[in-house]
Formats: sequence, C-alpha cells, structure tokens
Amino acid sequence: MIQALRGMKDIIPPESERFLYLLKTAGEIARRYGYDYIETPLLEETALFKRSVGESSDIVGKEMYQFIDKGGHDVCLRPEGTAGVVRMFIQNKLDRKGGVHRFYYHGPMFRYERPQKGRLREFHQFGCESFGEESVYEDFTIILMIKDIFDALGIGYTIKINSLGCPECMPGYRESLVSHLNDIRDGLCEDCQRRIETNPIRVLDCKVESCQALLKEAPVITDKLCEICDRDFRTLVRLLEAHALPYELDPKLVRGLDYYTRTAFEFVSDEVGAQSAIAGGGRYNRLVEFLGGKPTPAVGFALGVERILDLVKMPEAGRQGIYLGVMVPEALDTVIDLAHRKRKETKVFTEYAKRSLKAHLKAADRLRARYCGVIGEDEMKAGEIWVKDLETKEEKRIAVDLF
Ligand code: HAM
Repeated sequence: MIQALRGMKDIIPPESERFLYLLKTAGEIARRYGYDYIETPLLEETALFKRSVGESSDIVGKEMYQFIDKGGHDVCLRPEGTAGVVRMFIQNKLDRKGGVHRFYYHGPMFRYERPQKGRLREFHQFGCESFGEESVYEDFTIILMIKDIFDALGIGYTIKINSLGCPECMPGYRESLVSHLNDIRDGLCEDCQRRIETNPIRVLDCKVESCQALLKEAPVITDKLCEICDRDFRTLVRLLEAHALPYELDPKLVRGLDYYTRTAFEFVSDEVGAQSAIAGGGRYNRLVEFLGGKPTPAVGFALGVERILDLVKMPEAGRQGIYLGVMVPEALDTVIDLAHRKRKETKVFTEYAKRSLKAHLKAADRLRARYCGVIGEDEMKAGEIWVKDLETKEEKRIAVDLF
C-alpha cells in the first residue's frame, strides 16, 4: 500500500476543523493589526534561500528539497516564508514606494529534517511580515499580536527574547566569541568546531550538553550592543514588563536563520513536547537590501500550525442546520428542492433513502442538526413537512413553501 511520505501528514476531520479555525482566528487578528493577505509560490530559486536564510544554516545546508527542474533551473520547495515575501516585495517595487507594508500568509513549508513529534518534513506556518517600520514599537506590536492569537486559541506560552545586534556591534561581539570558542575548541563537538569558522553565533544554541557546559563563560551579545541596539532592546523589555507578558531573556537565542538583526524572539510552550518553539521571529533590517532592494527595515514572525493544533480550543459548536428525510420515496423531489433553497441560509443534510421517523430522528441527532424535517404520506398530500426542533423538542407541521 502506498503511504504518505515520512514526515508528511494528512490533516483530516476533526483536526482539520481546528486547522481552519486556527487560520481564520489568526487571519482575523492580523487584519486588525493592519496586515493584508498574500500568497507566494511554494517553489523558488534555490539561490533565494542560500542568500537569505544563509548557506551555513542547517536549513539550507542539510534540509532543502532541492532539485533541477526540466528547464535546468536550480529550484527548491520553500523551507520558510520570509525569503519569498521579501522577493515579492522587491519584485513588485514596493521597496521604492516607501511607507509601511504589512502582509500575512499561511501555507506549507518543507524541511528535510529527522521527523519526530512536532517536527515534520511538510508543515504549515502562519506568518506576518512588516516592512518599512524602523521603530522597536513595531517589534513589540508584533509580539502583542502573537499574544492575542495564542490567547484567542487558548494556548499558554513563554516568550524568549534576545538582541542579535547590528553591523555596528555584531562584528565586535563575533570576534570576542570566536576568541573564546578557540580557547575551548578541543572540548566542543565536531559540528561546533566547524561552526567556529562558518557561523560562530550558531555554536551558542548547540544542543549538546558538554558544549553548553563549556559555553557558560562565553561572552554575551546583550553586553556588547551598540547604543541604538541597546536602547531598543531596553525599550522592548520595558514594554514587555509594562504589559505583564511572560518573558525570559535568553542571550543564547540565535535562531536557525541568518537574516536577523536586533530583536529575535521565540514563543515556547511546555505542553507540546521536546519541540517547544511554537512561534519564532524577529527583525531583519538588512535582508531587503541584501536581496537587491532598497534598504528597508523589516520585522516578522511565523507560528508552527501543527505544533499547536492539538491544543487549539474551539468554541463549543451547538446544534446546526437542518436534516431532511422522507418516509415515502415520492416526496424526495420536494426534499431536494427544499434542501437547495435552505442551503442559501444554513447547512442542510439530506437522506435519500426512505426511513422510519425514528430512524430519521436518530440520524439527525447523530449529525448534530438543529432541526429534523420529514415528509410522510400525510404531509405529502397536504403539501406540508413535519419539523422537530431538536433543541427545544418542539414539533409542528408547516407548509413546505413556508418552511
Ligand atoms: P522558524 O523558527 O524556522 O522561523 O519557524 C517558525 C515556526 O515554525 C517554529 O517556531 C515552529 O513552530 C515551526 N516549525 C519549524 N520547523 C518545523 C518542523 N520541521 N515541523 C513543524 N513545525 C516547524 C521561520 O521560519 C521564519 N521565517 C520566521 C520569521 C518570519 N521571521 C521573520 N519573519
């Protein structure tokens, strides 16, 4: 039997109902914050992700679904959404227009990772990207929006935040970090030893315990920020405090993508297992320019849909719609016409087979319909339908035309 590929999942009822509810809720909240919906292609030039996410990142180095298409182009399935949105932003010359542009999107992302609970090879993100706003208040507003989304879905979280500095302060920090890493090089795992040359900042979030033990004395980025980065980071922390958001400073939070400057954050949950990051994001002031656009500050985030799907709390759905059935086959045409008319205002279930009244009532109850309408011999002759309100238990016969 052919099965879905490893790390790829069908989303079927009732989970698919929570999936739709999540996207609808998050989308409505994003719109209230001024974000407009966009779609970008699933397939992009590989070079886009190499340049933005970074060649030395695990995502680009190890996890891309990359191939040469029939036209000889090096393409890949998007491993994340930001790079494609930035490409779209530049391609549509929005960088030349000035002003602030805010977009939200959702859809599948692909990473060839080792599958485990909460870690898939095809997964869905809901994300937002804001362009043209330099102020750290925009970073905070995005964090508030994520809070609103998780609150609306009934999901608890803690926020980890860090600042990754800017081209003013990051190189100096990187130098002091590399010097420290060289001192402890022999004790580090093989991956980290390699990263000292390729991407030393990533050593900070190595998951190997012995590496973490050695990193206790490592210099901390937030001690080395330049004046502006430091001012913004303090403002952000002050705002998180003022709004009583549950946060933790995490100077080792470096994120798995290379495009961040200043604010970096992750929302984590202790209810989802080892893969605890349920959303991640931050500021990426250099990326638009790096991909060939006019320098434009930007900040954004994405949340992992599958990671939170089990936890999404939906409002209790009461009885809904109308169930229609017949006790005499000749009444079926009337039921079909009636169903078509009623579908303009509500959900309608139709049963084509002739059944007893008891059987129809049972079926309507199982479908959680609000009303059960049945046409028997007498009703047919009178041009009527027998209707029971399954909530109030009220029963009556009414003219088909008036129902
Ligand atoms: P990311 O942290 O790589 O950031 O992914 C965002 C979220 O997607 C994660 O917090 C996690 O919930 C979910 N996720 C990531 N990988 C997997 C996986 N293999 N299986 C299931 N869920 C996963 C980004 O992708 C950035 N583009 C976010 C961003 C937008 N930064 C700025 N703007």
